[in-house]
Amino acid sequence: MPEYEGKVKCIYIDPPYNTGNEGWVYNDNVNHPKIKKWLGQVVGKDGEDLTRHDKWLCMMYPRLQLLHKFLADDGAIFISIDDNEQANLKLMCDEIFGIRNFISNIAVVNNFKGRSDDKYIATAHENLIIYQKGKFITEGVSLPEEYSKEYKLEDKIGKYRHLGLRKRGSNARQIDRPNLFYPIYYNELTNTISLEKKDELIEILPKLSNGESGIWRWGKETLLKRIDELEIKIVKTRNEFDVFQKDYLNKDGIEKRIKPKSFWHGSEFSAESGTLELKKIFSKKVFETPKSSDFIEYIVQQSTTKNSIILDSFAGSGTTAHSVLNLNKQDGGHRKFILVEMEDYANTITAERVKRVTKGFGKDTKKVEGTGGAFDYYELGLPLFDADQNLNEQVDTEKIREYIWFSETRTAYNSKIDLNKYELGVKEDTVYYFIYEKNKLTTLDFDALELIKTKGEQYLIYADNCLLPKEFMAKNNIIFKKIPRDITKF
Ligand SMILES: C[S@@+](CC[C@H](N)C(=O)[O-])C[C@H]1O[C@@H](n2cnc3c(N)ncnc32)[C@H](O)[C@@H]1O
Repeated sequence: MPEYEGKVKCIYIDPPYNTGNEGWVYNDNVNHPKIKKWLGQVVGKDGEDLTRHDKWLCMMYPRLQLLHKFLADDGAIFISIDDNEQANLKLMCDEIFGIRNFISNIAVVNNFKGRSDDKYIATAHENLIIYQKGKFITEGVSLPEEYSKEYKLEDKIGKYRHLGLRKRGSNARQIDRPNLFYPIYYNELTNTISLEKKDELIEILPKLSNGESGIWRWGKETLLKRIDELEIKIVKTRNEFDVFQKDYLNKDGIEKRIKPKSFWHGSEFSAESGTLELKKIFSKKVFETPKSSDFIEYIVQQSTTKNSIILDSFAGSGTTAHSVLNLNKQDGGHRKFILVEMEDYANTITAERVKRVTKGFGKDTKKVEGTGGAFDYYELGLPLFDADQNLNEQVDTEKIREYIWFSETRTAYNSKIDLNKYELGVKEDTVYYFIYEKNKLTTLDFDALELIKTKGEQYLIYADNCLLPKEFMAKNNIIFKKIPRDITKF
């Protein structure tokens, strides 16, 4: 948390779908007696009861809360899910991310033929739910090939297509926006366009297909500014001149990007493609439900820039890292990934795949070149708090100090600075102290104040007890906080 809170541009997760067939384990640290009862229970076919969805939601809720904190203001979270929990997940995300931050529920065709085992409808897609933190910036996606074929015209800037300047669709009549109805003049001899009326010029007005007066898409000011982008052409069917905008495929060296659609379809999105890809890396099947790296790459491509951080906390076989590395290789980016995996294959499958992808895999003709890049591998330490929200004192004192500093200041702890024994640091004129001894009670009294060497406007001091008089504390701007630990043992 301290380092990555609010910094992740793209979160992709692919949690268990709660199909009733899979053996995901609910083993979180929660206090409610009912939830405690569920701990460690495997939700499989046997667990099909009224609480099946409750359990899944209880598993997801704290995780999504935490992911929301990691998300950057301009970031977005993408969640794969099928119809077992889609509706529940949507409602939960409305609550956590805010209903206004819902972006889309994409239909991703992952099995084009459809699942013939299904009872009534052969399911061919799953869902991808997208929410933003609030100020999402999308990069869009590359133009699909079938679209780029439309860019048949070419001038010295590059390939382009014609887009009519006349507005189409609703609110396109003169009475809707009278100021957007005006004549454009064309000099056929010099092939130039202007807004000035002259006898020898051809007058062109925006006309709807039924002959009524329409409007242009641009006002006069924009038109004058962008006049070079316009072209006049005779429309054969009407035998009349009309005005067109030159819509370029690449302009100023920047590739045209478009908004992704709400329906993703293509062999690169299929479940089969993910399975085959992973098989090639390990030479055998090692994981049941890997996504295809092209699918996640499509997500990363539209939601990140070259230095973004991408997080996947249900990492599975590590496809997300694979996608990020591929994309970095393609566009020379420096995106970073954080993967989290709770199962014991985190090292042997998740991390191993990422290693092979960076170094290259396969043999002879099937050899796939490495993407380059590197990563660190960590195992989580002990939880900081026990079930009663007391400090877990098995945890290293330095880690506890790091946490206290972060929870107070929301900034990363700098353990390298040489401080007095109990001092944590200074932030905005407040000096923070954590008077803590693993094996004895500590007291904030006049003796303890002797320790304070760093001057500040205010002092925030943690200890087990406080014996300083209230008036003295108020006068010297001292705030006392009790260390959250079980002191009955002393
Ligand atoms: C469907 S897989 C993700 C597959 C991944 N997208 C890929 O392409 O390989 C779901 C992952 O969530 C993990 N998982 C299951 N239950 C979990 C829980 N309660 N908390 C966190 N992760 C869990 C599983 O270990 C599994 O690796």
